[in-house]
Order: sequence, then structure tokens, then C-alpha cells
Amino acid sequence: MVFGETARPNRDIRLRCAFLLPQVSPLTTPPPPPAMKVPLLDLTQQYEKIAAEVQAAIGRVCASQQFILGPQVRELELRMARYTGCEHGVGVSSGTDALLLGLMALGIGPGDAVITSAFTFFATAGTIARLGARPVFCDIDSETFNLSPARVEAFIARDCEVRGEGAERQVILRRTGERVRAIMPVHLYGQVCDMDAFMEIAGRLSLHIIEDAAQAIGAQDRKGRMAGAIGHIGCFSFFPTKNLGAFGDAGLCTTSDPALAERMRVLRVHGMEPKYHHSLIGGNFRLDEIQAAVLNVKLGALDGWMTARDAHARQYTRRLSAMRGAGKVATPVQIPGVRHVWNQYVIRVQRRDELRQYLAAAGIGTEIYYPIPLHLQKCFAYLGHGPGELPESERASSEVLALPVFPELSPAQIDHVAGTIERFFASAASPSQQTA
Ligand SMILES: Cc1ncc(COP(=O)(O)O)c(C=O)c1O
Repeated sequence: MVFGETARPNRDIRLRCAFLLPQVSPLTTPPPPPAMKVPLLDLTQQYEKIAAEVQAAIGRVCASQQFILGPQVRELELRMARYTGCEHGVGVSSGTDALLLGLMALGIGPGDAVITSAFTFFATAGTIARLGARPVFCDIDSETFNLSPARVEAFIARDCEVRGEGAERQVILRRTGERVRAIMPVHLYGQVCDMDAFMEIAGRLSLHIIEDAAQAIGAQDRKGRMAGAIGHIGCFSFFPTKNLGAFGDAGLCTTSDPALAERMRVLRVHGMEPKYHHSLIGGNFRLDEIQAAVLNVKLGALDGWMTARDAHARQYTRRLSAMRGAGKVATPVQIPGVRHVWNQYVIRVQRRDELRQYLAAAGIGTEIYYPIPLHLQKCFAYLGHGPGELPESERASSEVLALPVFPELSPAQIDHVAGTIERFFASAASPSQQTA
């Protein structure tokens, strides 16, 4: 699967962003014909290196004919628990189902509200709404793109009433009377949120923290704590574009709370325990053995891939920093001491759509994660938000551009992408010159 080629766009990217074709200024000098193609993501190169091992692992599952929740899933759960430093892993059918299962395990439903980021993939808030709870959108930090604890605090102070004491404490939305039960921070692009701040808020107000770690496997905060292991439940996606990607959909929940782990295991199979006895209403969130077998092979290579992504990110930042000084490109801000895993390397550019078109014409794949903040999505109109309410999320949506950063890229390719961005700014007339 090659992502980000303009001639044959990836299905995922088409589905998620087809309505967002960039506008190009006719006065921008076109780039020279593509000398070197750089797709946004090319999984074929990764596969070539591990094909024999993966095929053997799949072959063993086929020989066993045990396809659902078998030894491969158990191995993945144990290894993910060890990898993140959690007590338990619960393999599920996708990252979306990991979020859904986490919320269900906490009993979140009608009458409840969950605070989350307006600038994330739809699944973060879609799962909250699917359970009949209210997604409450707060704005992001302008530097990291992550949910801002300060803005969450401000929201609670302004829009909520805190009742009761200690473990009985309740946070109630003044306008609707719904009870805030949890905060769902998202470690966007692969950098961990300010989890100390969120854990402090959660402890003080008796809230749960569900980490959306879909993009952040292996990421660490300043204290060396792994994404997904800091809150009460961590949710991972193994969608093929993720740093650890399956050969289809897959996901996993982590927790160190044995009761939550058990509840998630039961809810994953229709709330069934023992067989054909249902004390809870769950769903089919089962992970299959073939996906787990692939992931067990790939997990061994993850750290090496992360090192390569980190080297690419450093090279981009070095190369693009001259333009950063000139106010043209803002390179990603990495909080000192954290391990960013660069699921995406995302720059900010004011003339983003023009640059994107220019890069596409030069054979360079890019993507916009995410073009419309969630509070302005049509399906959430019932929440009553309007433009201007969450300015940082809205600004990010109009400025962000993800560049190719997959591990198998060569330094020459990174250099080519950076050089093409430089040429864009050198060749494009400034807007005032264009209208003169
Ligand atoms: C931040 C975030 N949350 C949730 C998900 C959902 O994961 P999945 O696609 O595996 O259902 C994704 C995947 O795109 C994501 O990036």
C-alpha cells in the first residue's frame, strides 16, 4: 500500500479527506517535473523486509485453524502490557472499538459527558456520542496540538458545578445537568499530552482518564511513562498507517486495574461470562489471530522503526528551520525530555493548500490531519458550536500539513521534500505582488 500518491490516492485518505482538494494560486510558478517521488507512506518497503517472517506466522495460524482470541492474541496482550508497563492488555477489533470498550467499561452512557479535544480523528468523539453521552470539546495547546489542561480547567470553572466531597465529587454541566465522567486526552501525532496535569484534575474531581493513544505507541512523557499507561485506560489503534500497523483493523486497551480489565474482556464478547450467560450488554470487539500474529512479528521491529522516524524528524527540523525563522513554516514543537514517536511529522503553513498542491505536482505526498475540527462537524451540530469558539483547533485545521516520515525513507528523500518546500517559498510571489 503506497499512501499519498496523487494519481492513486489511498482509500483511507480519500475517504477521510476527499472533499478537501487544495486550491492553488495560478500565479505560483509550477514546480519542476517530479525528479524523485516521495509518497506519504509506502508500506511495501516495510513488508519486503519482514515478508518471510510474517507469512510464516500467518501460515501457523492457518495450520491451527484457530482464528479468534487464541494464543496469538494472548501473546500480543502480554507483550503490549509489558511494553507499556501496564498490568493488562485487551486485544480488540480496532482503535475505535478500543475507545468504545474503554468508555463502556466505565459505564459511560446517557446523562454523562466526556471532555475531549476538538482537534483529533473523529473516532475519539464519535465513540462518546455513540454511547449516548455528550462529547464536550475543549481547545488545544497551540504548540503541541494536544488537548490543553488549562483550557479544560477553564471550561470546568466556567461551565460546570462541582458538587460533593472526596470520592463522591461530581462535576455537572450547568447547561444540561449532565455529569462529566471522564477526560479523553489524545496523544496527537505521537506526542504524549501533559498527563500530570490531567491526572491531577482527574484525581481532584473524581474523573477517569481514557488516553487515546491510537497514534502514540511507544511515546513517553518526561518521566519515561509510556502512552496508554498513565491514565485509567489506554486505547491503541493498529490501523495499517499507525507506527505498529496490522494487515487490517485491530486495536488494544491497556489498564492496570484488574476489575476494568476483566470488564473489558467480558464486554468484548457480548458481555458473555460464562458462555451464553450475559450479565452485561457488550459487543463483538474480538481481535483475530491473523492480525495478532502479524502484530507479534512487527512489535519486535517497532523500536528500530521509531529510531528511523526520529532521525527523519530531526533532519526535517534542521532543514526547515531556516524557513521557520522567516515565518513561513512552523516545525513541530517537541516538549523537552519526551519521546515523540512521529506517527506524523506535521508542519504549520499559512499558505498550506498552495504548498500542498505544489508538493503534489512534484510527486510528494502529504495529508491534512485534520481539516475540520470536530466541534464544527455537521454531525455534532446538535451540540450548538459555531466558528470562532475553539480558535486554536480551527487555526490548526487550516494550517497543518503532514509530510512523509515513514521509516524506510532515505535522507535524500527527506532532503528533496525540504528542498521542494524551499523552492515553493522562493518561487511563489507574495500575495501583494500577485495582485499588483
Ligand atoms: C487519534 C485516533 N483515535 C482513534 C482512531 C481510531 O482507530 P481505528 O482506525 O483503528 O479504529 C484513530 C485512527 O485513525 C486515531 O488516529
